[in-house]
Parts: sequence; structure tokens; C-alpha cells
Amino acid sequence: MISEDKQGLYDRTLRRVQDLIAGEDDPIAVMATVVCELYHSFDYFDWTGFYRVVSPGLLKVGPYQGAHGCLQITFDRGVCGAAARTRTTQLVPDVRRFPGYIACSGSTCSEIVVPVIAPGGALVAVLDVDSDRLNAFDEVDKTNLEKVCALVGASYQEVIP
Ligand code: SME
Repeated sequence: MISEDKQGLYDRTLRRVQDLIAGEDDPIAVMATVVCELYHSFDYFDWTGFYRVVSPGLLKVGPYQGAHGCLQITFDRGVCGAAARTRTTQLVPDVRRFPGYIACSGSTCSEIVVPVIAPGGALVAVLDVDSDRLNAFDEVDKTNLEKVCALVGASYQEVIP
């Protein structure tokens, strides 16, 4: 998939997500809709899901599509933990080279994890997308998945960090 095609696909997917979630203020309904649209739009997305911050330092699985995911991840572990701890997107071209990587599925080769921030600035979740291809994600994915996560963050009530 060349980058221009990919950007076009993201544009269409983002528009569809915006239409589908317009006026929806239940974050779980929003997350479920987002993962469904992303997973079915991009052929290299082999696992797409959210992990939610449920207590300090702890993520639990939320809406996802793909094979079953780990139920919980602490902030000190894995790519999801790194994204949560640093509140920055983690782009991992080869998961075998990521120290502390959590292998939920043996077929995952690369992944990207994007933080979700609520109005008020609290980290409320991370979006995790895994691919069975090496080096599947680039800056186009990063920019657009960050836009998706901004929409998800906006569906939360203000959370004071
Ligand atoms: N690989 C992730 C864990 C989540 S699963 O892949 C669905 C990580 O290292 O954080």
C-alpha cells in the first residue's frame, strides 16, 4: 500500500468514524466503533484494540478485534505500558527488538500504540494495533491514529489527572 493511497483510506475511514460516533458520549461505544472501522479498513491490521486505564499504573483490555488479547498490562511492561508511561506514541517496526515486549500472539511482527488523553489531560486508554508484517506502520499511520485517538479522548467527560 503506497502512502498516498493509505492517506486516502485514512481520510475516508476518519470521516466514517466521525459520522458514526457523532453525538456519542459513551467512550466504550466510541472505542468499539473505532476498532471495528480500523480493523476492517486496513488489511495489515491483524489485532486492533484499546487498553483502558482502570487504576493507577494498570491497563485492562477494552473493545478489540482479532484473536484474544491479554486481559491486563501494567505500565511497567510491554509496548502498551511504554505508551502509557510516556504518554507518547510507540512505533515498533520489529517487536523482537523491543525490550519487555508482551507476546499476546506469536504472529505479531510490528505494532503501534497511541495514548488516548481525555479533556483535562488525564491518560484514559491506549490504542494498540498489531501487524503480522514486519515494519508495517509509518508516520502516516502515526499521524492518523493520533487523530483517531483525539476523537476517542474527546468522548470522555473531563477527567482531572
Ligand atoms: N504486545 C502488547 C500487548 C498487547 S497485545 O499485543 C494485544 C505489548 O507489548 O504491550
